[in-house]
Amino acid sequence: YIAEIDATDIEKGTYPHFMLKEIDEQPPVIRKIIQEYQDDHDNIKLDPEVRKAMLDSDRVYIIAAGTSYHAGLVGKQFIEKLANVPVEVHIASEFSYNMPLLSEKPLFVFISQSGETADSRSVLVRIKELGHPSLTITNVPGSTLSREANYTLHLHAGPEIAVASTKAYTAQIAVLVILAVDTAQAKGINLEFDPLQELGIVASVMESLTDQKETFEKIAADFFTETRNAFYIGRGMDYFVVQEASLKLKEISYIQAEGFAGGELKHGTIALIEEGTPVIALSTQKNVNYSIRGNVQEVEARGAKTCIISIEGLEQDTDTFVIPHVHELLTPLASVVPMQLLAYYAALHRDCDVDKPRNLAKSVTVE
Ligand code: G6P
Repeated sequence: YIAEIDATDIEKGTYPHFMLKEIDEQPPVIRKIIQEYQDDHDNIKLDPEVRKAMLDSDRVYIIAAGTSYHAGLVGKQFIEKLANVPVEVHIASEFSYNMPLLSEKPLFVFISQSGETADSRSVLVRIKELGHPSLTITNVPGSTLSREANYTLHLHAGPEIAVASTKAYTAQIAVLVILAVDTAQAKGINLEFDPLQELGIVASVMESLTDQKETFEKIAADFFTETRNAFYIGRGMDYFVVQEASLKLKEISYIQAEGFAGGELKHGTIALIEEGTPVIALSTQKNVNYSIRGNVQEVEARGAKTCIISIEGLEQDTDTFVIPHVHELLTPLASVVPMQLLAYYAALHRDCDVDKPRNLAKSVTVE
């Protein structure tokens, strides 16, 4: 099944909520992205103008808001580690106050599901005045950010209706992988893995995760039914995912939640741990597995109720859930799925309006 944009995409069908439907659509969206960005020889196919813009630039400035900003944090790792191009990631609304010193040949990359976020647009207007090139990565090719930027990459995720973004986040990460790999290949950098094949594995793993909804429903019931607050911890790549995990939880369940870097706990946050405080730890990276587990022991010693989500190969007997193996760089695509489902079921158990949380809009067109 390949996601197509048709009338059924804007109907819930048998799903109780758009959010759950959109979580489930992630594997077909990843497959659709593979298909759209693949040539007849199974190589990556990208707009040659986008490739040239990447090759011409000495530094990429990613501009985004909310969940798209979190995807940008992950994308920076791909572009720097695979393509060897320095990247800065900026929150759109802060950019004009804290405008960084720009490199000689900057390329601005706007990540936006809707392509209509006013904070991002105002940065685009400003950098166009300065004469800098721009690329928009969006789910809506006819959108304002797409029309006004020099280049566009399409997410192919189909309409996203739930206010809390899910499939757009994973689509953004997948397209950023493709952009990074394409740049790396154009620069003659030899990658030791087949990115499209690895993305295919990710799609299958995502499917196995969305097939285990009952497991996440139980964890959510256990951890989130009563609590007022919750903490998520991670290190390295996992730190970016836990920021998105906590945003999902707060958006739709109204539980006060924060995603922290494991190493920062001792510098302040650990003071908030009380008897029974839920702490969700993510461990998918070999180089931080030992340290993040140390953090779990520290919070447990202070009474926290902990849930460890790890990945095959790094798991321990006491882990709450183990994600099947995916390539270490691509773990956010898999590890965010349990986090999305935990937030979904937390909101459901607390009788919240999952698709239309209070005070939030799908697309924010005012600054
Ligand atoms: C709003 C939405 C968020 C979204 C953010 C950025 O705040 O509620 O879910 O992440 O805007 O939206 P964009 O369309 O630019 O990705």
